[in-house]
Amino acid sequence: MKSVKKNTVLIIDGGGRGSVLVDKYSQSKLVSKIIAIPGNDLMTLNKSKPVKIFSDLKTTSVSEIIDICHQEKVDLVDVAQDNAIAVGLVDELIKNNIPVFGPTQKAGQLEWDKSWSRQFMKKYQLPIPEFYVFDNPKSGYQFLDSTPNKPWFIKASGLAEGKGVIPANNNQEAKAAVDQMSKFGQSGQTYLLEEWLVGEEFSAFAVVDGVDFQIIGFAQDHKRVDDYDQGPNTGGMGCVSNPLIVNKKNVTQIKNIFQKTVSGMVAEGRPYQGILYLGGMVVGQKVYIIEFNCRWGDPEAQVIIPSIKNDLIDISFSVINHQLKTQKIKTDSKTRIVVTAASRGYPVNYNNVKGKQIFGLSKIFSSKKVKIFGAGTQFKNNQYIANGGRLFYLVSEGKNITDARKKVYNELSGISIEGNNLHYRTDIGWRDVQRLNK
Ligand code: AMP
Ligand code: GLY
Repeated sequence: MKSVKKNTVLIIDGGGRGSVLVDKYSQSKLVSKIIAIPGNDLMTLNKSKPVKIFSDLKTTSVSEIIDICHQEKVDLVDVAQDNAIAVGLVDELIKNNIPVFGPTQKAGQLEWDKSWSRQFMKKYQLPIPEFYVFDNPKSGYQFLDSTPNKPWFIKASGLAEGKGVIPANNNQEAKAAVDQMSKFGQSGQTYLLEEWLVGEEFSAFAVVDGVDFQIIGFAQDHKRVDDYDQGPNTGGMGCVSNPLIVNKKNVTQIKNIFQKTVSGMVAEGRPYQGILYLGGMVVGQKVYIIEFNCRWGDPEAQVIIPSIKNDLIDISFSVINHQLKTQKIKTDSKTRIVVTAASRGYPVNYNNVKGKQIFGLSKIFSSKKVKIFGAGTQFKNNQYIANGGRLFYLVSEGKNITDARKKVYNELSGISIEGNNLHYRTDIGWRDVQRLNK
């Protein structure tokens, strides 16, 4: 019998997104070992394959990552995190002949440079809000003084850990937001003023091999920290997939957006390989691009990746070999929900929660109703300890949102953090619940 090559896969991420990738790759018959940088403690628990983490490293520790690839004889690197793409980790791996799934630094400019990205979208006639780019505060003020009053979004052009986007109800507030841009250092040196679109947001994910693409699925994130969409924006407090907002007509528009983007990137001499994430908004009947990200969303990945029926390593290698056409990506039709469990005070100040014990997690690992994916949770001396903002994620599936929702919230009710310090939203999926019950 011909022996099948067993692969060692390295995943670059430490959050819930990396955790679900660990889980999916570990289901592959072609994978024998998984490494994650920096990873998290929960990745290593209750897994069918050995999982090793290097928690002292960063996703941007390029030379150390290359060394680990050689030491551990890594066969595939999945670069799943934005900063790693922005510093050119993919390019360095390619130079070292290490197979890598993810976009190059130049292709990743779609995410790490909002000004370049909007100009690209304009050039290729993609559906976008009106926008203006400035590189000093004065020119922004002058523009705002000479333009009719209206609501804006002011955005630092560079990566700012999700904090560089400020809404402004009028030109006066927009000027105050322009003043804030300097807080983001180099990232806010160039900034954008964008027309404030009003509609419903969704996330769409495609896998791209440079020339061809396939859409994998859709999700709807809940970005505000509190119920009723109140409080500051976060990295994401929960998602549903596939959300009912994305109808057939929208799918046609979304395909068209991906098609024009993928061919536009080829025309720019920066072919895109990896996961392309469209942050979209449905305004009336029309889909607009809010942003592109060059990776899976977190927590969107936690509801979409489990729906994939293919072996993930087959998809990754087909992208690396520019042969995505040979893979027909299939997904199941279950509804999934993920709820983010966070430290009380996230995203503003949660320092006092660090070090506190989380109760009720052990039995979640054996639950048949939900799956748990870790992030800022440590496992020390047989105890689960809070060590960050977003701590872990619970995911459930069902025939519809009501069914999936019941399971996830039942299990969450048995979890707590010392001193009543667990925070999660209780209304994830509210739009689809309303739509279903109409
Ligand atoms: P971004 O980091 O560009 O995705 O922006 C963060 C959030 O700000 C998005 O998820 C939207 O909720 C909101 N946003 C950004 N740009 C706009 C816009 N032009 N119109 C309306 N909402 C926006
Ligand atoms: N959930 C939003 C993001 O990953 O950017």
